[in-house]
Amino acid sequence: MNEASVNIMAPTIGTSTSRVDGRAKVTGLAKYAGEFNVPNLAFGAVVTSTVTKGRIARIDASRALAVPGVLDVLTHDNRPKMASTDQDYHDDVAPEGGSPFRPLYDDRVRFNGQPVALVLAEDWETARFAATLVDIQYEAESFATDLHARLKQARAIDKPEKPRGDAARALKEAAARHEGEYFIPAEYHNPMELFAATVVFDGGKLTIYDKTQGVQNVQRYVCGVFGLKPDDVRVMSPFVGGAFGSGLRPQYEVVLATLGALRLKRPVRLVLTRDQMYGLSYRPATIERVALGANAGGTLDAVSYEAIAMTSQYEDFSRNDAGWAELLYTSANARYAHKLARLDVATPGDMRAPGAATGVYALECAMDELAVALKLDPLELRLRCYSDRDQSSGLPYSSKELRECYQQGAAAFGWAKRRPAARSMRDGSELVGWGMATGVWEALQMPFSSRIVLTANGHAEVSSAASDIGTGTYTIVAQVAADMLGVPIDNVTVKLADSTLPTAQVEGGSWTAASVSHAIVNAADDIRKELLSIAQSMPDSPLKGLKPGDVVLTDGAIAAGQDKGRAVAVADIMRHGKMERIEKERSSDFKEDDRHARNTHSAIFAEVKVDEELGVIRVTRVVNAVAAGRIINSKTAASQVSGAVVGGIGMALHEEALTDHAFGRIMNANIAEYHVPVNADIQDIKVIFVEEPDSVINPMGLKGVGEIGIVGVAAAIANAVYHATGKRVRDLPITLDKLDR
Ligand code: MOS
Repeated sequence: MNEASVNIMAPTIGTSTSRVDGRAKVTGLAKYAGEFNVPNLAFGAVVTSTVTKGRIARIDASRALAVPGVLDVLTHDNRPKMASTDQDYHDDVAPEGGSPFRPLYDDRVRFNGQPVALVLAEDWETARFAATLVDIQYEAESFATDLHARLKQARAIDKPEKPRGDAARALKEAAARHEGEYFIPAEYHNPMELFAATVVFDGGKLTIYDKTQGVQNVQRYVCGVFGLKPDDVRVMSPFVGGAFGSGLRPQYEVVLATLGALRLKRPVRLVLTRDQMYGLSYRPATIERVALGANAGGTLDAVSYEAIAMTSQYEDFSRNDAGWAELLYTSANARYAHKLARLDVATPGDMRAPGAATGVYALECAMDELAVALKLDPLELRLRCYSDRDQSSGLPYSSKELRECYQQGAAAFGWAKRRPAARSMRDGSELVGWGMATGVWEALQMPFSSRIVLTANGHAEVSSAASDIGTGTYTIVAQVAADMLGVPIDNVTVKLADSTLPTAQVEGGSWTAASVSHAIVNAADDIRKELLSIAQSMPDSPLKGLKPGDVVLTDGAIAAGQDKGRAVAVADIMRHGKMERIEKERSSDFKEDDRHARNTHSAIFAEVKVDEELGVIRVTRVVNAVAAGRIINSKTAASQVSGAVVGGIGMALHEEALTDHAFGRIMNANIAEYHVPVNADIQDIKVIFVEEPDSVINPMGLKGVGEIGIVGVAAAIANAVYHATGKRVRDLPITLDKLDR
């Protein structure tokens, strides 16, 4: 990539362009995985296990098969052939090692709610009714599902951050210290769209519409599981109704729908029920033990962090909960530990800033508690130990405008008017609390490819296998292409989420914007170079002698960057070259850089009002000031962050899967009793993006948003609840019964 490619003219980049797919979504034109209608469609319904561990002794499907309209009942006994090695079931984002779950593979039951049979019928109602008639006998075994009861069996796992200094001694000698144990329960993604797959069987070829964050990941997985060739399996997921990480790994609906299509040799649709989605992935329950010590001057001197999380018996899923203090605070002494306890549950997975949402919750509550011990303003404590370097690597950041986040966030919130003492602010019968916290996430970028087809009439088609899980990818892809090609955004058509399109990783980790944008920039560069070389072959070309870096595509022409009067229309160039279209495909090619830490940061300020008698908590205001490099679209990015704040409110006050450990079964596997914030819970959310130029991270200075929006939010709210009430609740969610205790 060269200089001119980042010289953006008349940009849509940086504006609040509305979603290019907005109309399709609100008019119902946008189709989701369970909505593709094809002739001769059959319908599936899943039967799930009612025991937690053991084996299936006998399945009697005769009553189900007797129902008119039922086509077949598939079980591990009679299903079509599936692969037999772990490698065949391994997907791009599966944990290292382990033994990925194989749906309907054998008679083993590994978790409650595991799929054990698939009923296929002429319509959905029949399939669902018949599923209730499948009789299954189990040989049940004893099991464990309670993290707290298995702490002794928790095992240390691979390399947490390296210790520094002598944290134990520094803690002992600290002038002020805080130790606390925090808890985050298992939480479920609960995207609005149910998991679904429509699998079209067509003479040996499969076309699969699946709810997923990665169509090529699903394609490779389906090929592995069923021994199929890549050319025979096409996976599409043009629209996704939220996923939050639940669609990173292929889920069992795609395996079961494919089994059904292969058996019936006709198209099959399978839509999971809401309660069945509690048999997929989730945020693992995690215990966080934090100890912080400060020296007499009131700065941080010791950090001790131990995280203990749950995983399944068959895979070790883990994310870094422990090490986030390394990225935020200067401390001479630190030690970290990370353990996993294996339980008889489905493997947990990534959910909304995995590791950080949980780890930073505990860290930032502990910082608040240390500030109270030091009698310091919590923001002042953070500023005193502000770090310009990653503490573990010693590297500086590619950019870090966190100070500016603190400053602008505090100003917008009115933090200076806070009274320090708990229970010192009121509004009528309500106690008022103001709390703050810091957020941090990784600025990741991955190899993505994109193809651009520019036609002589000035229309561009941009394509990539990347997904848009509701985040705004369609829109930013159109913006970047429009600006780089010098055409109006309405002239750009975007195609995404089809496994036949240029290579992309799963949409996750907040890396898609940076990754796909640079692939587009590179493809547009190649188009500009080719157009220039043809233009220079034209008689009396005004562009003679110019290099690719000297010209830009603008207003349907290629022009000298320094003198827009020296220009040739793209249509004229194509006519001269006797071409209808130029097509280029390129990958993002990020430079290796081991000299910088790369992160996004945020400062969150929250106001709660707590009814003194009832303990009802309302989050009345949140300001989230984010530093995430250049923002491509201030509207979709702000939607990402405000949506993530809602997720943070859910984490703080509502979300919790409740397992009856006598049965190993989740008792609130629905969205009536698994609470998520509703409109009445959401009041004023203000999102600020601070300026953060970054010429190091990548040519466009992009970092990506999404996950940064949730990190720290639950802590800011918990700290506000303490400030309002004087009561610390360390185990989430903060419900009114805990406040009252
Ligand atoms: Mo995100 S949890 O990487 O979808």
